[in-house]
Amino acid sequence: MTASQMSLGLFIRPAGFSVAAWRHPGSQPDANVNFGHFVDLARTAERGCFDMLFSADGLSAETVGGRSSMHRMSHVVWIEPATLLAALAAVTTHIGLVCTASTTYEEPYSIARRFASLDLVSGGRAGWNLVTTANPAAARNYSLDAHPPKADRYRRAREFVDVVVGLWDSWDDDAFVRDQASGVFFDPAKMHALGHAGEHFRVEGPLNVARSPQGRPVVVQAGASEAGRQLAAETAEVVFCATPTIEEARAFYADVKRRMPAAGREPDELKIMPGIFVTVGRTEEEAHQKRALLQDLIHPAVGLGLLSKHVGLDLTELDPDGPFPELPQGHDKIHLYRAQVVSDLAKREGLNLGRLAILFADGRGHFEVCGTPAQVVDAMEAWFTTGAADGFNILPPVLPASLDDFVDLVVPELQRRGLFRERYEEATLRGHLGLSVPKRGVRPIPRPGPAGQAEQPG
Ligand SMILES: Cc1cc2nc3c(=O)[nH]c(=O)nc-3n(C[C@H](O)[C@H](O)[C@H](O)COP(=O)(O)O)c2cc1C
Repeated sequence: MTASQMSLGLFIRPAGFSVAAWRHPGSQPDANVNFGHFVDLARTAERGCFDMLFSADGLSAETVGGRSSMHRMSHVVWIEPATLLAALAAVTTHIGLVCTASTTYEEPYSIARRFASLDLVSGGRAGWNLVTTANPAAARNYSLDAHPPKADRYRRAREFVDVVVGLWDSWDDDAFVRDQASGVFFDPAKMHALGHAGEHFRVEGPLNVARSPQGRPVVVQAGASEAGRQLAAETAEVVFCATPTIEEARAFYADVKRRMPAAGREPDELKIMPGIFVTVGRTEEEAHQKRALLQDLIHPAVGLGLLSKHVGLDLTELDPDGPFPELPQGHDKIHLYRAQVVSDLAKREGLNLGRLAILFADGRGHFEVCGTPAQVVDAMEAWFTTGAADGFNILPPVLPASLDDFVDLVVPELQRRGLFRERYEEATLRGHLGLSVPKRGVRPIPRPGPAGQAEQPG
């Protein structure tokens, strides 16, 4: 990748990003349990030279919408993604494999081990998307009475990353001599215990996985609040974000990168990759027809259920032909901003509640583009060249159909304009993203405090 080329991730959800994807003729209705389907997707993405497959994850069955719509949701079950990506490592050769894992409900030793192992089995293609977990329902599956407050989740996350990165540095690259004649398997001087004792974790180390091919798997982050942005600036090498307009994307981009020097980091050590919900057709008319077809498949109750969750109001019993309701006084802070954005949009565009819900259910707060390959690439180029994005996470509405469209129609146009690679030139995810291999013992990801790189003790 050159600095003038963008990075692309493929966001994998079983049938596609749209809530109605599984009903679409271009999807695989049994995708949630169909490993062969994911193999095909991974191979298509690799044919399109994508930097990485990117998997979100949750720790509870997504039963969004209550009684009126939850049985219509296909995201309710699927294959645990770290297992899925490890299996996909064996049937792919170049594409990166990024998996989400929670800093709230997991232990750092397990995460360090899982991702170092994914890096080993894939030959240096692993990335860890660290999230503090959005869905409070996880608490009830992990023996907690309540989901911890956001501030606590982010404090734990910060220490969590330090421990994971420290564990990934447990072994020098040449620690394992495996000298059959002398019987010496490893050099103890090249093994480094961590000895971490902090607010949330006590972890002795060393890790029982050797240093991985990338030195450390790539650290990805998703979480957009003040605390989330600060965590990203201090620790992440890729950020996945949801920014619906170029103005919001530029503001987010500038804000996160502006925080980096104070954390002792250069802005180009972090790639910002917003989601983009793309519908492409050979003609503009075809693209809009495709989008309308998919929107027609969104059951009204599903749209209302999703919108209810997003804005923190139960809209499911309201008349879909009526207006979006006035926000109650003192509406809860977590949802207030989103609720206001949605309410303003409805008023501005004169949308009734049902139509608003359908539109929202499509891209769910991500950047949406619908048009010809040239129109889609015009939009991506504008974001990429004006400080809104270093690349994109492609959210295909329907899988495999929308991925096939993207690889056959959009990728060639990106390549023709020199904005994307024509073939893989590197073997690792770091290589694809243009990120350097971290030196063991040196933390390019410093703990908060004085700026600059800190040597980590033996
Ligand atoms: C673009 C984006 C993607 C996310 N993906 C996940 C995910 O896959 N699983 C999850 O549990 N949480 C996910 N989260 C939630 C965050 O981890 C976080 O808990 C939540 O967004 C609240 O923090 P924030 O206000 O800083 O965004 C995501 C958040 C964003 C912004």
